[in-house]
Amino acid sequence: MFVFSISVEAARGVGKNRIVALFQPHRYSRTELLMDEFSRCFSGADKLILTDIYAASEAPRRGITGKKLYETVKDAGHPDVMFAGRDTLADVARAHLRPGDLVLVMGAGDISQVAAQLSECLRRNGTFGGLFDGFRGKVLREEPLSKHTTWRIGGPAEFWVEPADEEELNRALSIARRHGLRVTILGAGSNTLPPDEGLRGLVIHLGSPFFKEMRVEGESIFARTGVPNTLFIQKAAEAGFGGFEFLSGIPGNIGGALAMNAGSHGRSISPYVESVRTMDDCGVVHERKHDELSFSYRQCGLNDEIFIEARLRFPKAERASVQKILDEYRDHRMKTQDLQHPSAGCMFKNPVTPGCSAGRLIDEAGLKGFKVGGAQISPIHANFLLNMGGATARDMKEVMERVKQAVRQKHGVELESEVKILE
Ligand code: EPU
Repeated sequence: MFVFSISVEAARGVGKNRIVALFQPHRYSRTELLMDEFSRCFSGADKLILTDIYAASEAPRRGITGKKLYETVKDAGHPDVMFAGRDTLADVARAHLRPGDLVLVMGAGDISQVAAQLSECLRRNGTFGGLFDGFRGKVLREEPLSKHTTWRIGGPAEFWVEPADEEELNRALSIARRHGLRVTILGAGSNTLPPDEGLRGLVIHLGSPFFKEMRVEGESIFARTGVPNTLFIQKAAEAGFGGFEFLSGIPGNIGGALAMNAGSHGRSISPYVESVRTMDDCGVVHERKHDELSFSYRQCGLNDEIFIEARLRFPKAERASVQKILDEYRDHRMKTQDLQHPSAGCMFKNPVTPGCSAGRLIDEAGLKGFKVGGAQISPIHANFLLNMGGATARDMKEVMERVKQAVRQKHGVELESEVKILE
């Protein structure tokens, strides 16, 4: 324990960003005896990865395992501890390293091999640690999410990943599974608030040309998830269809429109969805018919699958009549909404009572213009929360909490966020 503590202290003196410690317990008898002390001695490590016990010719003892040690350390309150089996330890550690980390590899068994593997790998492959070798698509390290959200807010994504196609999406998911990395899917970033601290793991964005393809087959329009709503409207109108005008002015893409059952002017996308093609987190592709989805207001009922493509059916319509509706909707938006500053569209869902508007309730609670830091409620439409410059996710969340409180007090209504708040 003492050795560990002074090593961490010495490591701190080197002045690196984080200390990542890898520890291999030695012998079952020693681990059992020192379990209690182990539970506290790693507090100086910013990230701790524990592995299986090195037996050193001892027979296993019931209930005394590396996993048990991990649970004990976690229960004692270590903020960032994980377990990786000895055979995957180097891969898992490699996947969790960030530039500027100092890695301490400790144990009396065979963990020194992991140190050698890690340093060789980092020397050969730089900061990606070979994780994405041969990957077709874009991978960026520590990419600011503020570049990818309409609010212009969000800290860095550990790995920003844009797979080239469906096969590469499967590959990205498999990399994440193998290395215990979290996956977040980010579409056009229009209804999403990432934290100021950023997101660890993979943030997958389906924005490559493959995911932006759409085609017409008979009466159906096939649109992949990354097709922007604006492009969909333009191409579908050119192909002689109509009925999708409600999508205009909703900043986002088809994937987001499906996930949120996006809509406006009393219409939403769900009645027009014939089927969808999705991928689950194990990489298995599903074709789901409309009846297998349970769409409701701003929900699709399918939260753990990634949309790849939708087959949509809209009625045939005259180009001029489609354009007339688009113009009317645009005029309504220009008159009623604040389109000058970065926003996420409406921040709260409208309450279920027909005709009840969240914007009106917030307005009547006297909150137009209310401000925290760089976040301000639009003086034009009270359901629009604006980034007036330099707003943080914390500012936005604080405003949203204050709005909920005020509307609860004034109207007895519980507002629900339309924006997906990521933690
Ligand atoms: N109102 C106020 N004060 C305000 C805002 C609105 O009194 O600050 C009143 C309006 O005068 C009107 C009523 O509330 O009588 C409804 O307002 P609006 O027509 O702007 O519609 P909304 O219910 O606020 C919904 C969608 C918008 C969509 C518009 C137009 C939701 C949460 N909002 O807004 O969608 O553009 O209808 O159809 O469903 C979005 O989802 O991001 C979005 C902006």
